[in-house]
Amino acid sequence: MSRNKSSRHAITEQQTADVSEAQIAVHWPEEDYFLPPPSFVAQANLADPGVFERFSLDRFPECFKEFADLLDWYRYWETMFDASNPPFWRWFVGGRINACHNCVDRHLTRYRNKTAIHFVPEPEDERVQHVTYQELFIRVNEFAALLRDFCGLKTGDRVTLHMPMVAELPISMLACARLGVIHSQVFSGFSGAACADRILDSESRLLITMDAYYRSGKLLDHKEKADTAYAEAAAKGQRAEKILIWQRYPGRYSSPTKLVEGRDVIVNDTLKEFHGKRVEPVQMPAEAPLFLMYSSGTTGRPKGCQHATGGYLAYVAWTSKYIQDIHPEDVYWCMADIGWITGHSYIVYGPLALAASTVVYEGVPVYPDAGRPWRIAEDLGVNIFHTSPTAIRALRRSGPDEPAKYNYRFKHMTTVGEPIEPEVWKWYHQSVGKGEAVIVDTWWQTETGGFLCSTVPALHKMKPGSTGPAIPGIHPVIYDDNGQELARGSGKAGNICIRNPWPGAFQTIWKAPERYVNTYYSRYCKNPESKDWRDWPYMAGDGALEAADGYFRILGRIDDVVNVAGHRLGTKEIESAALLVPDVVEAAVVPVADEIKGKVPELYVSLKPGVESTPEIARQVSDTVVSRIGAIAKPHRVVIVPDMPKTRSGKIMRRVLAAISNGQDPGDVSTLANPEVVDRITQLVR
Ligand code: WT7
Repeated sequence: MSRNKSSRHAITEQQTADVSEAQIAVHWPEEDYFLPPPSFVAQANLADPGVFERFSLDRFPECFKEFADLLDWYRYWETMFDASNPPFWRWFVGGRINACHNCVDRHLTRYRNKTAIHFVPEPEDERVQHVTYQELFIRVNEFAALLRDFCGLKTGDRVTLHMPMVAELPISMLACARLGVIHSQVFSGFSGAACADRILDSESRLLITMDAYYRSGKLLDHKEKADTAYAEAAAKGQRAEKILIWQRYPGRYSSPTKLVEGRDVIVNDTLKEFHGKRVEPVQMPAEAPLFLMYSSGTTGRPKGCQHATGGYLAYVAWTSKYIQDIHPEDVYWCMADIGWITGHSYIVYGPLALAASTVVYEGVPVYPDAGRPWRIAEDLGVNIFHTSPTAIRALRRSGPDEPAKYNYRFKHMTTVGEPIEPEVWKWYHQSVGKGEAVIVDTWWQTETGGFLCSTVPALHKMKPGSTGPAIPGIHPVIYDDNGQELARGSGKAGNICIRNPWPGAFQTIWKAPERYVNTYYSRYCKNPESKDWRDWPYMAGDGALEAADGYFRILGRIDDVVNVAGHRLGTKEIESAALLVPDVVEAAVVPVADEIKGKVPELYVSLKPGVESTPEIARQVSDTVVSRIGAIAKPHRVVIVPDMPKTRSGKIMRRVLAAISNGQDPGDVSTLANPEVVDRITQLVR
């Protein structure tokens, strides 16, 4: 580890007057570097520093040929990049391709009997299913035949999937892709009502679901949600033709919810008619949509981010190979849910395009205990591990010493989805990675298809809390609120944008092209009449800074801030400070209305198991925040809670906490992983 000290960004209250609002968000100091282990570097797919030269901005767009050449094309594309209708970019125009062929068929010659998917059921006494590429090929073909010949689906139709984390989910996605049918997978933890909105918006002809699945030791009735989704979508005008229901236990219907004659189809029964059937992959134009992924906007209707077949697949294949460092012999486990973009790109399409073995785990990371992920890693020989700061915090909280008990070795680990507090990063590195794994902190979004910023694992030093430089081919720029470019490496916070288009970027918001232009391009567009891509930077909607070493630090959504007396405070900075108190394992900041200052931060923390909540700890947390950040960030109150309200995907629901803090109704909390905690917190606060 080098002792290279970088600049500090501590800001005192006096300084704030002449500093931009975003800048106020920057309080957590730059960390020291960690070096990638030599053993990792020696085997890495990408160790040539010349890569940045190859992908310099003046090589745009030709540099992306390398991405496309990782794929098999039926017909090679003629035009790499078409900018004739900004900002609706087109990639690999004229090319014909099939995503399913690229993820399955083309691997059969070399990897027929290799595991494509390890399905790990949540109950530990149920055996792992190892689905080989051959078996995947057979099952995808049979299901594609069912979709085409029994359901009458054709290219361009939309289908909503509301599937849990089971092998049948990637099988269903790939079967759609084989036919050129656009899939829209809705996170299984979402309610039937949320699913209905997406059926409606996408005008889906079918809903594909599963009868039941395991979550924290319980076999949940999932079919129930399909009935709600169907009814609500139908009431609003989109009546699905059928509901296809996979059985969690083939041959046995595991839901107490009744089947509806003529509408509900048990897939496992109907599939028998399609045994041995083969379906030729449809040769799709490169720009045909592959899927929709609805993103969780903070306000308004969910946005159906539309991803293209050729550009998207090329992008996730390249980034999986060079940033995730996937080799065909690796066992790769991304513990995200396929219901999010992370799962689409880095459980299904990226790893399978590279013929890797990818793990699909049904349940929660800490079931039945915090040793579970490490047992899975040991059993399957996982050597690449990918998860989120939230999961890392949960595992650190409930089993800080568990990783050491298991005999696995990670060469590579990823963190994604939110800024990671340096304290948490260090536990991930030391305890989970046993000090031997390289870590990449990947910054990207549903809209971007794949990574935008990350260290290249064999080429860059790691810096806890920083995502790293942009990946090859991506050229960020940070603007201030007035549209002025901040100097590179200034350490000043602003609005991060990407100067150039890239093949993985979404094509539009489904049925809302104006919203697409307005949300992502209007604010910093230099000239709306221009046909030059240089005039159309992509606005990510995140606050960020670039340090002197070219590493970016993501400060959170530009709307995810506490505005104290007109100064924005990054919630992450406050939370990170709170986590420095040894007894604290999780922290969440919410803004509370204050007569004088406008908003003040209120801080919720949860403690290590067995530690008693005392006023002394609360005071310690408050003092640490003040000493670390300044009096401006002093929490109005520190509330010690038994647990944070969380989504099924593990994100802390700050919105719920903010409502409680502000004496408002927290609204519908039924989709939380732990709705019962809301009442307990309310009692503590009031
Ligand atoms: C937002 C995108 C990336 C796929 C999963 C989430 C935040 C994402 C990081 C990171 C700091 C991050 C940003 C971004 N974010 N990755 N490594 N460090 N912040 O996809 O739901 O579309 O959310 O997540 O704020 O805009 P998403």
